[in-house]
Amino acid sequence: MELSGAWQRAARGAMLLAADGTLKPTIFAEMSALATSTGAINLGQGFPDEDGPAEVLEAARQAITDGMNQYPPGLGFPVLREAISRHQHRFYGLTPDPDREVIVTAGATEALAAAILALVETGDEVVTFEPFYDSYAAMIALSGAVHRTVALRAPLFQPDHDELRRAVTDRTRIILVNNPHNPTGAMMDLETLELIVELAHRHDAVIVTDEVYEHLTFGRVHLPIATLPGAWDRTVTVSSGGKTFSTTGWKVGWMTGPSELLQVILAVKQFLTYVNAAPFQPAIAVGLGLPDEFFRGVASVLQGKRDLLSAGLRHAGFSVSESQGSYFVVADAAPLGFADAAGLCRRLPELAGVVAVPMSAFVTDEHKSDYASLVRFAFCKRVDVLERASAQLAGLSR
Ligand SMILES: Cc1ncc(COP(=O)(O)O)c(C=O)c1O
Repeated sequence: MELSGAWQRAARGAMLLAADGTLKPTIFAEMSALATSTGAINLGQGFPDEDGPAEVLEAARQAITDGMNQYPPGLGFPVLREAISRHQHRFYGLTPDPDREVIVTAGATEALAAAILALVETGDEVVTFEPFYDSYAAMIALSGAVHRTVALRAPLFQPDHDELRRAVTDRTRIILVNNPHNPTGAMMDLETLELIVELAHRHDAVIVTDEVYEHLTFGRVHLPIATLPGAWDRTVTVSSGGKTFSTTGWKVGWMTGPSELLQVILAVKQFLTYVNAAPFQPAIAVGLGLPDEFFRGVASVLQGKRDLLSAGLRHAGFSVSESQGSYFVVADAAPLGFADAAGLCRRLPELAGVVAVPMSAFVTDEHKSDYASLVRFAFCKRVDVLERASAQLAGLSR
């Protein structure tokens, strides 16, 4: 059976279509399969191996017991929309109206898909920062838009402002921001965020910003682009409970923004999933209302894990970029004599009993060589797992 033309475009956009037209598995699927078949420690895919807060888990059990098991309203349960609105106010001073400016989605993934599909016409341009999360490229290609990228180069992974100015034009419909950034762990500085707002105004573009790692930052406070002067009216902010509360499998996400934009996006979202995750919605509402210490604690525990794995990677001989946020750290394998990270990742289970993902999985074919020796490691794992991985990786340089 042939994949439809539109999805062939999407698969090509996401670099999953081989030259002979066959579909390749994603590198995440390939690497996770390798972890399973070899028993290696999986630092490839970004999911935590410990449960999140007990109150949140208990609230989901209670919601099931209480019978919250049918379709929620199209916008999401009011209890969650109100909690999202309060959260935006508590942390960022934003005041989205829970009835008009908040929509609950099936993870951030659905929010991003609906936003791109709703706002973009064939031939429009979408600007992303490269490397990028793989679903962006697939959705941009599916929408028929042209994908323009601005490079984030090692070791700091900040965009060059002139390159950004050249990439955004009157053809740009969306500037798609991801801050804190997967896979690099970089956070955008204020000047870059201001420039994005300025360019969006100048070229009448919408900013869609993926902030799923908003609470997982290390020594830096996350600044949503929607808080900048002039940004709110043209910004759709996307986030999710998966990362903050270690509930990635629940797929409870949301978007906030001006109702004119959200109404249009809702028209698409209602035909993607319509609604999802009924009993998990009130549970994430409980999570969003947890005291500040919880949010500080999540970040500081993860910072300790970042430090542990980064030190292990340095000790093993990698050159390591400092991760400022997210679950991920980028390590350059060139000092160890590995110029090809994809090749190294395929051999890493046998060499060190560890699985990781090459950065080339997050870049377009024409830019793969710029990232050829870089590897992404996930540190959202138990301390003993990270210690074991570090000890095993130390054997690489011997
Ligand atoms: C940058 C980024 N955006 C979105 C997602 C997906 O979020 P969700 O599971 O809420 O759909 C991920 C998950 O890895 C991510 O890293």
